[in-house]
Amino acid sequence: MSQSRQSDYPIDPLFTRRWSPRAFTGEHIQESTLLSLLEAARWAPSAFNAQPWRFIYGRSDTPSWQPIFDNLVEFNRGWAHRAAALIVVLSKKRYLAPGATESQENSSHSFDAGAAWASLAFQVTLSGWHAHGLGGFNPDGLRHALGIPEDYAIEAVIAIGKLGDKATLPEALQAREFPNARRPLSELVADGRFVFDE
Ligand SMILES: Cc1cc2nc3c(=O)[nH]c(=O)nc-3n(C[C@H](O)[C@H](O)[C@H](O)COP(=O)(O)O)c2cc1C
Repeated sequence: MSQSRQSDYPIDPLFTRRWSPRAFTGEHIQESTLLSLLEAARWAPSAFNAQPWRFIYGRSDTPSWQPIFDNLVEFNRGWAHRAAALIVVLSKKRYLAPGATESQENSSHSFDAGAAWASLAFQVTLSGWHAHGLGGFNPDGLRHALGIPEDYAIEAVIAIGKLGDKATLPEALQAREFPNARRPLSELVADGRFVFDE
């Protein structure tokens, strides 16, 4: 573990152990294992308990993989081809309250899907796998290929895999293959009033 992953205050080591490698082994993942990772995401908190998150997965040894993989940007295709699964994270933009006849906008659909992704990522770490979030994908291509309706936002794609040897990566990526650092907590939190520089 890199020295850059020292917490400023005591926390469970799980939080600094989770990181996003690009070198994966190419090992496949069982569907039941993947569903167990996604089960953790299911229990995330959400406004109104609306649970706006949805997940579409493709495992690398199944036909569901290719349409997701093909819609990653070239940079991400360059390393994600050795992942075991790709998961598309969606969020439902509207919410039908219990007893209501008309749906309303859910202003926290993305926030809540973020909580679900974090839960997934920590369960992935606990289960001995690694997860890497991807914003570099073609949203229109993915929407069309997977039949995703317009009232669902495409939030991210998550690559899941077993940690591999960084020598399998292109040289430029090998140099970046380590757990990175964070801003000090003092730049991120304030007591009672906005004081942040940027
Ligand atoms: C929503 C989101 C989008 C990201 N997009 C990409 C991406 O397209 N390609 C990539 O290599 N890494 C991507 N990352 C990984 C981030 O760079 C990484 O999470 C960040 O540097 C923090 O490092 P850590 O996850 O190892 O702690 C993304 C992460 C998130 C959460």
